[in-house]
Amino acid sequence: MSDAIDLAALPHDFLWGTATSAYQIEGAVAEDGRSPSIWDTFSHTPGKVDNDDHGDVACDHYHRWREDIDLMRRLGTNAYRLSVAWPRVVPGGDGPVNAKGLAFYDELVDALLEAGITPSVTLYHWDLPQVLQDRGGWPERATAEHFAAYAGVVADRLGDRVTHWTTLNEPSCSAWIGHLEGRMAPGLTDLTAAVRASYHLLLGHGLAAQAVRAAAPDARIGIVNNLSTVFPASDRPEDLAAARRHDGHVNRWWLDPVHGRGFPADMREVYGVELPERPGDAETIAAPLDWVGLNYYFPATVADDPDGPVPYARAVRLPDVPRTGMDWEIDASGIETLLLRLTDEYGARKIHVTENGSSFPDTVGPDGTVDDTGRQDYLVRHLAACAAAARKGAPLAGYFAWSLLDNFEWAYGYDKRFGLVHVDYRTQVRTVKGSGHRYAEIVRAHREGGGDRRAA
Ligand code: FCB
Repeated sequence: MSDAIDLAALPHDFLWGTATSAYQIEGAVAEDGRSPSIWDTFSHTPGKVDNDDHGDVACDHYHRWREDIDLMRRLGTNAYRLSVAWPRVVPGGDGPVNAKGLAFYDELVDALLEAGITPSVTLYHWDLPQVLQDRGGWPERATAEHFAAYAGVVADRLGDRVTHWTTLNEPSCSAWIGHLEGRMAPGLTDLTAAVRASYHLLLGHGLAAQAVRAAAPDARIGIVNNLSTVFPASDRPEDLAAARRHDGHVNRWWLDPVHGRGFPADMREVYGVELPERPGDAETIAAPLDWVGLNYYFPATVADDPDGPVPYARAVRLPDVPRTGMDWEIDASGIETLLLRLTDEYGARKIHVTENGSSFPDTVGPDGTVDDTGRQDYLVRHLAACAAAARKGAPLAGYFAWSLLDNFEWAYGYDKRFGLVHVDYRTQVRTVKGSGHRYAEIVRAHREGGGDRRAA
């Protein structure tokens, strides 16, 4: 089935990776000086997360990381996207550095490199120190400044070995889901707070990019956005306008400013919230990017919804389309479209698919295997679409499957499994799923076939 993927279109030094994030896998939330993050608070608030699950133990990666690197070796991957937990490194949010927290990532990076695996480090994957939330969180400018200081600390320590850096993971989820829809930490439903958070997240990205570059001159810096293809539910002008608004909300608001185009004027009007702009910010936010990260999961079809919440565009559930266990529509063509959009419309010079994957209710069979055909199919289809985009000129340099392990899937808790490797949360036993084996075969086939001789 991997024949379906035009592997020769991918550069010979392509990064074949898996991705995780700190709060979703590490556990050990009160160990070695880590302070609580907004996700500790949120997940321990009854009713916020399915089954009231939380990340106290998660995959216990904090103690089992050696075993997890062995799993990466078994998959044959040559890259790994991890996130550093700000509350481990700077537990006070700003101020003193926690040597033990930093030492954990230091050792992890060394072991990855020893295993021939390139670490790709994300500085913020949603786990804001709670102390900073108590001081106002992302709606406050100071948070962006503290983020940059923390980013500098991490880059100073790891920058002699890590070149691949991401400032933020999916800032749109932090701002919109966390501050507007309230379904994720910090759980607010406040448009002004959400818009201010969106601004300070992107400002924090720009400031952190400067701090990382100052500490690590070889750093290659990107930002990771989760983008969606957007379709109008009908040809009605109202639905076309709704699709444009939704595109503005989930895509353009996040892409335009970092590409030097400023915040989209139409969306400023839709939100009607004054941005806390200061002279020089626009340039800071548009810090040069060495690459851009695309997280892709599903497309959106929307209809006008004048009485609904911002941006007045209601998701329409299409009948008779394939879906994952998240109830997310499966449409692999979306990843190709978005890779080409980043290339053609935004002039991306290098792109990594930093997340892509699917959740299905897996079980370990009596023979000890996990036969996840749905996930294998999703993986192959999306990789085929990635290779098609590369063939058409998208400068695709890497693909990171979400996720290495089943893990704490935020508000959905542990029931939603995205891993290429199954985790039994009772015993912490890891079992490579069929999709993990399939991924390993694809990686091997690319390596043996050589790939495109041009370097990524
Ligand atoms: C993305 C997140 C990641 C994971 C996947 C399924 O939005 O970045 O942590 O939860 O979705």
